[in-house]
Amino acid sequence: MDTTGTLFFPPAGSTLAGEVDSLFYFIFWASAVLFAIVIGLTVFFIIRYRRRRPTGTTYGRDHNLALEITWTAVPTVLILIVFVWGFRAYMRMTIVPRDALEVKVTAQKWFWTFDYPNGANSVNELVAPVDRPVKLLMSSRDVIHSLFVPDFRMKMDVLPNRYSVTWFEATRPGTFNLFCTEYCGTGHSEMLAKVKVVSEREFAEFLASTGGPGAGESPADYGRRLYTSRACNTCHTLDGKPNVGPTWQGLWGRREALQTGDFVTVDENYIRESVLEPQARVTAGFQPVMPTYQGILTDRDIDALIAFIKSPDTTNSEAAGE
Ligand code: CUA
Repeated sequence: MDTTGTLFFPPAGSTLAGEVDSLFYFIFWASAVLFAIVIGLTVFFIIRYRRRRPTGTTYGRDHNLALEITWTAVPTVLILIVFVWGFRAYMRMTIVPRDALEVKVTAQKWFWTFDYPNGANSVNELVAPVDRPVKLLMSSRDVIHSLFVPDFRMKMDVLPNRYSVTWFEATRPGTFNLFCTEYCGTGHSEMLAKVKVVSEREFAEFLASTGGPGAGESPADYGRRLYTSRACNTCHTLDGKPNVGPTWQGLWGRREALQTGDFVTVDENYIRESVLEPQARVTAGFQPVMPTYQGILTDRDIDALIAFIKSPDTTNSEAAGE
């Protein structure tokens, strides 16, 4: 593993960094070689075939089929290699491993909050275990921010009103810079954080040592309380029976038919939309009667409800088997 860094990159700190770097250098050197060939030949031809005397010289050949096929085929192959390689790397960056630890990231002017599965949270310091995939489920309270950790070659926009997801697996302990890389106003350049990669033991100690709002509870437990305290249970059951609204049993990941005839897969963004804009996409067979919870539930509350809906309490075997 590269721990020294190069002219173009800081030291690699994640499992995906090596591939990003290799692809970058492939493109870089392919471009450099092509540049040298094109400019070299141009200069050579300018000198070799310059007009020496004002005579009406004509040249015998106006094209060369073999040459034209070569300069079409070679760049085509190079570009296809970059496409396939880049696409595969992109998919690896996009598809989160199933066993990833999920951390909720909240960006706002001008700091970062990280919420861990047991209810612990930290501000401007993401603590992560080494050699274990970590999924970041991210949203913003205000404008668009962007999370960037150069050592992990990881960068993803963080948006208001929508979740974005990225992940990493750190390959060595250490402290790495985390930047906001989308201009977000006065404090943008100071919207800095650290990623602290630690051993599993230190990570467990960290989780045990901090508590936050929803204190000491997991988001799913907090969500279960909200389910009752915010009266979600008036219309949504947990036992599979439809009520005024769809049941939450097996809701997570379900493919729902909508009134419009379209389908939607129930994920973080659909749940969030249904809480804040209930009329946007109504499930087939139900009346559009749900009130909006805009201003009643905070982002944190919505995250907790999502965690609850995802939890084994509401997930039946049928949905889990999909
Ligand atoms: Cu947040 Cu720039």
